[in-house]
Amino acid sequence: MELIDPIVRFQTELQEIRRDLHAHPELAFQEQRTSDVVATKLTEWDIPTIRGLGGTGIVGVIKGGTRDRAIGLRADMDALPVQEANRFAHASRYTGRMHACGHDGHTAMLLGAAHYLAQHRDFDGTVYVIFQPAEEGGGGAKRMMDDGLFERCPMEAVFGMHNWPGAPVGSFGVTAGPMMASSNEFEVIIKGKGAHAAQPHKGIDPIMVAIQIAQSWQTIVSRNCNPLDAAVLSITQIHAGSATNVLPDEANLIGTVRTFNAPALDLIEQRMREIAEHTAAAFGASVEFRFLRNYPPLINHAKETAFAIEVMQGIVGPANVNAQVEPTMGAEDFAFMLQKKPGCYAFLGNGEGTHRDAGHGLGPCNLHNPSYDFNDALLPIGATYWVKLAQAYLRF
Ligand code: NI
Repeated sequence: MELIDPIVRFQTELQEIRRDLHAHPELAFQEQRTSDVVATKLTEWDIPTIRGLGGTGIVGVIKGGTRDRAIGLRADMDALPVQEANRFAHASRYTGRMHACGHDGHTAMLLGAAHYLAQHRDFDGTVYVIFQPAEEGGGGAKRMMDDGLFERCPMEAVFGMHNWPGAPVGSFGVTAGPMMASSNEFEVIIKGKGAHAAQPHKGIDPIMVAIQIAQSWQTIVSRNCNPLDAAVLSITQIHAGSATNVLPDEANLIGTVRTFNAPALDLIEQRMREIAEHTAAAFGASVEFRFLRNYPPLINHAKETAFAIEVMQGIVGPANVNAQVEPTMGAEDFAFMLQKKPGCYAFLGNGEGTHRDAGHGLGPCNLHNPSYDFNDALLPIGATYWVKLAQAYLRF
C-alpha cells in the first residue's frame, strides 16, 4: 500500500482522537463537543475555520499555492441512539448513544488529512475540509448547504467516504451513477368507525382496510415498476386497536420506500396513494396519506468517479478497487451535495470485525450494530486517500 509516511507516523494521535470521539458520541445536531474537538485541532494546526453551518457543522480552509481552484472533502460527525454492547476502554460513556456507524473514524480520517495538508501545503488551491452534523436522518448536509456552504466555500467538486464492514481493509468500493437509494417515509391513517367487536356490522373496520391496502401495495413494485428499476416498499409498522373486544376507529401503516430514480419514486408514491384512497373508499373508510421524501438517491458523477478511482488505485493497487460496487438500498445525505456539485462517494473496507478490542459485544461488526467498532487500521488509508485526492485535483 502506498501510504503517506507522515500520516502513518501520525496514526497514534489519530487513533487517540478517534477513540475519544467514540467514547463521547453525540446525536444529530447535538455534536457540540465533537465540533469543539474538531475546531480545537484545526486551530492548533493553523487552519482557519468556519463554524455554525448547519448548527454544529464546521469547515476548515486550507490554502496552498496561488490558484483559485478548490475541492471539498466531507466527513460526518454524528452518532446513533443505540446502546453500545462493547465494554472496551473507549466504549461510549453515555447511555443509549453510540458511534455505531463509524462517523468517529470518518471525522478522525479527515482530521488526519487536514493535519498533513496544513503542514505541507503541497497543492495549488484551496481544500475545504467539511465536518457535517446529522447524517443519520437529520439531513445535516442539506442544512449546511442551506446555511451557505457552497457560497462561502466555492468548490469545484466534493468527495465523501464511508467505511464498509465486510469489505477487506485496504480495499475501496465505488461506482459511477446511482450508488445509494433515495429514502422516503410514509404514514397512512385509515379512518373507519369503531364498534363492538361482536357487532362489526355497526362499524367500519379499519384493520381489514389496512390489511387490504398493505397486500395491494405489494403489487406496486412487482406489477407497476419497471423490472429494471430497483425499488423497495417496506411496511415497518402497523398500529391499531387496544382491546380484544373493540374494533378501533383508526389503523396506521408506516414504512419506507427506496428507489434510485425520481420517476420510479413518483410512480410508487402515486400508486400508493391511489390504492390507499380507493381501497378505503370501497369499504366506506377514508385515509390521510403522508409521504415524506427524506434523502435523494446518491448519484456519483462519472468524471469525478473515474478520477477518484485512479487515486484509489495508486494507493491500494487496481486489484483492491472495486470500480463497479453493487449499489445499496441504504441512503446517505451526501446525495444532497452531489445534486449541487460534481463529486464522488466511496466505500472503504472496514474488515470482518477481527480488529475489535477485547470486550467487544458478541454481535457482528456491522453498521448500526451495538457491537460495531470502526477499524483504526483505516485511519492512515482514509487520510492518505483524502490527501492524494486533493493533491491530484489541485496539482501544480
Ligand atoms: Ni454512516
